[in-house]
Amino acid sequence: MDGKRSGLFIAAACLAALVAAPMARADDLPKLKEKPTYKVGFAQTESNNPWRLAQTQSMKDEAAKRGWQLVYTDANSSAAKQVADVDSMIAQHVDVIFLSPREEKPLIPAVMKAKKAGIPLFLIDRGVDPTLAKAGRDYVSFIGSDFVEEGRRAADWLVKKTGGTAKIIELQGTSGSSPANDRKKGFMEVIAKSPGMQIVASQDGDFTRDKGRQVMETLLQAHPEATAVFAHNDEMALGAITALEAAGRHPGKDITLVSIDGEKDGLQAIIDGKLGATVECNPRFGPGAFEAAADYAAGKKIEPIVVNKDHFYDSSNAAQSLAGSY
Ligand code: AHR
Repeated sequence: MDGKRSGLFIAAACLAALVAAPMARADDLPKLKEKPTYKVGFAQTESNNPWRLAQTQSMKDEAAKRGWQLVYTDANSSAAKQVADVDSMIAQHVDVIFLSPREEKPLIPAVMKAKKAGIPLFLIDRGVDPTLAKAGRDYVSFIGSDFVEEGRRAADWLVKKTGGTAKIIELQGTSGSSPANDRKKGFMEVIAKSPGMQIVASQDGDFTRDKGRQVMETLLQAHPEATAVFAHNDEMALGAITALEAAGRHPGKDITLVSIDGEKDGLQAIIDGKLGATVECNPRFGPGAFEAAADYAAGKKIEPIVVNKDHFYDSSNAAQSLAGSY
């Protein structure tokens, strides 16, 4: 086969695989009977920041509103415990599982075990490795934000704010989690177009305020020349602000910070002039997640990927958004 024909053959084979795979396998998904009420599991990854607390509250509120029984677990930042939590939900014969996977790869067994047990599973907020488990085939749907786009939006703002020149410290979210991987990807994609935007240091701050503070302290000592911070969430940005002030820096004046989430303390930091902007990542999953499960039981078509619409906060709108934040 010559080069042109083999290229055409590969392209046709890829197209056929793309078109055929989800359609052919969607029938493998566990079914959900229509019932007046359900017993649903929500496997939370951790409860160590306001975003997680708001997400859990939203799930509990929606379960109460509908009169559905909620089996709630908190994995305390352990992927192994989260897998065990899903095992326990399977043993308790829940009708549906909502999972916010801590990391992309270690939670694959949980997704596959639910499928094998005949329990429909929805990923909410975070994803799992798409090469190992697919939405619409191995689990019903992913419902959440577009994390790559969040990274792009943070970078777009920073490029404009700094005029395209910055020495950036990046505080990454939990290693191996989809928001950490994807936010970095989107951010890098945008700053790659501005040669003056340079990441001088990058480290895992595990999405927590205190770890963000500690990591910032260390990285700032090694890179006092830093002029910007990209934190993968507000909590780490707030930790970074504490570290910067302790080092005699003036966040918002001699160093520009951008982050992601839109929590109350983040908005307050914008109002105080310390945090420049934050891309919203909406944690209120309850109504959408339960609605998707009810629709699934009713036989309605569920999109394999449902993307949340997120706002953007800066000094122009932080004050008016504060009251509704978490
Ligand atoms: O997966 C979403 C991220 O996880 C949020 O940005 C963060 O605050 C949370 O811990």
